[in-house]
Amino acid sequence: MELNTRLQNLTVVGAAGKMGSGISLLLALDMAYRALENKDRTYVLNLVDISDTALQGLLRYLRDQAIKDAERQTTRLRQLYADREDLVENGEMIQAFADEVLTHVRTGKTLALAQDSTLVFEAAFEKEELKIGLYKELAALCPKEMYLLTNTSSIPLQALAEASGLKGRVIGYHFYNPPAVQKLLEIITPADCEPELREAAVAIAKNLRKTVVPSNDIAGFIGNGHFMRDGLHGLKEVERLAKEHGYVKAVALVNRVSRDWLLRPMGIFQLIDYVGVDVFQLILRVMEKYLKDGLHSPVIDRYIEMGVKGGQTSSGAQKDGILQYEKGQPVGVFDPDTKSYVKIDEAWTKESDALLGAHPDPSMTWKGLQKDSEREAKLRAYFAGFKNPSTLGMQLAADYLRASKAVGQRLVADGVAHRDEDVNQVLMLGFFHLYGPINSYLD
Ligand SMILES: NC(=O)c1ccc[n+]([C@@H]2O[C@H](COP(=O)([O-])OP(=O)(O)OC[C@H]3O[C@@H](n4cnc5c(N)ncnc54)[C@H](O)[C@@H]3O)[C@@H](O)[C@H]2O)c1
Repeated sequence: MELNTRLQNLTVVGAAGKMGSGISLLLALDMAYRALENKDRTYVLNLVDISDTALQGLLRYLRDQAIKDAERQTTRLRQLYADREDLVENGEMIQAFADEVLTHVRTGKTLALAQDSTLVFEAAFEKEELKIGLYKELAALCPKEMYLLTNTSSIPLQALAEASGLKGRVIGYHFYNPPAVQKLLEIITPADCEPELREAAVAIAKNLRKTVVPSNDIAGFIGNGHFMRDGLHGLKEVERLAKEHGYVKAVALVNRVSRDWLLRPMGIFQLIDYVGVDVFQLILRVMEKYLKDGLHSPVIDRYIEMGVKGGQTSSGAQKDGILQYEKGQPVGVFDPDTKSYVKIDEAWTKESDALLGAHPDPSMTWKGLQKDSEREAKLRAYFAGFKNPSTLGMQLAADYLRASKAVGQRLVADGVAHRDEDVNQVLMLGFFHLYGPINSYLD
């Protein structure tokens, strides 16, 4: 079936969620432009979720974002609306485009909306049984040509496809958060994926201006294959340091080193909170089910039992988790023994400074280096000093770098990633790292 025909009737399942709403936006904008360019064709975008309130919020979000997009695209829109003499002012044209976007959208709580769809994007909860149930229903409802592109972060596609009767018709389409902004798209292609689906997946990604990194169909794929093990390394370091410094302090130390010494945007525990401690546990469980590789953390289970979950509020603010936050910045650490947060005050910071030793070069920061044209040379010179660490901070950072590199290399050795560069690109684009984990800084 021709891709242009497929693109005339699309469905997003889980459309009002964090990922679903971004995917819906990308597809809605693309469809509106397509419709303006192909006036003889009919285009439909079905957005399915389980909550009417959330779907109404989604429609408002789509309208607001369509207006913002149109404001950036006035030259293109002028050409597309050349025959609309009634659209004199730019403001009128922008409103017309927002209307165009919503004209093609149908929202609802039932999968029946998808019955004519030949491409379905799924971004419902990360629960295998739920996804299989949805796919079975879609397989029964949709045309037999229907292809399914799932945003799953960890579940092997082959398992989902086989259990739902969609063998060869499911592909992993792993957008990163937020999908409308993040350039990276990890495409996970199961061995028996139909060639037409492979090609369609890449062509759509190109259309959406995404940078594609291919991954093999092994639980966790590249992104979580690295992140989960990186997180487990941080937790193991805490366990070790806790014997000497106590649990709470150990968490703070590892979090600090993994941000400030490794020059990452967030410390490892802040990142786990950002993703959600519950999501971290869920993904670990999926990976352990399929890989049987000791991917388990009793500490994470304990946090969840105590209701320590992290994640974000509906407005995007960081909720407390392993760390406590004020204005998005960590200000405390959860103490599982007292079930309360211990504040990181000035005295604490001084104490941890003394333990870690001076930062090797305070001028080196994640933020400052992002657009630095000499970044690579500076990173190389900075990390060269970590070969012979003289402080606890440098030692922890050097161990972290080596662990992170070993995880990356293993992803290639296990066939999850095709090459070192793919692992590095996922970490740099998807996790905003300044450098890939597979590097020669400590060689
Ligand atoms: N959040 C991330 O950073 C991220 C990144 C990459 C991939 N993912 C993956 O994307 C998917 C969605 O994650 P999310 O973070 O957006 O979750 P979310 O909880 O924000 O959204 C899930 C949405 O699915 C809807 N849903 C649940 N059951 C449904 C059903 N039966 N029918 C229709 N809709 C249903 C929910 O109402 C919700 O709106 C998961 O597979 C997750 O692993 C998430």
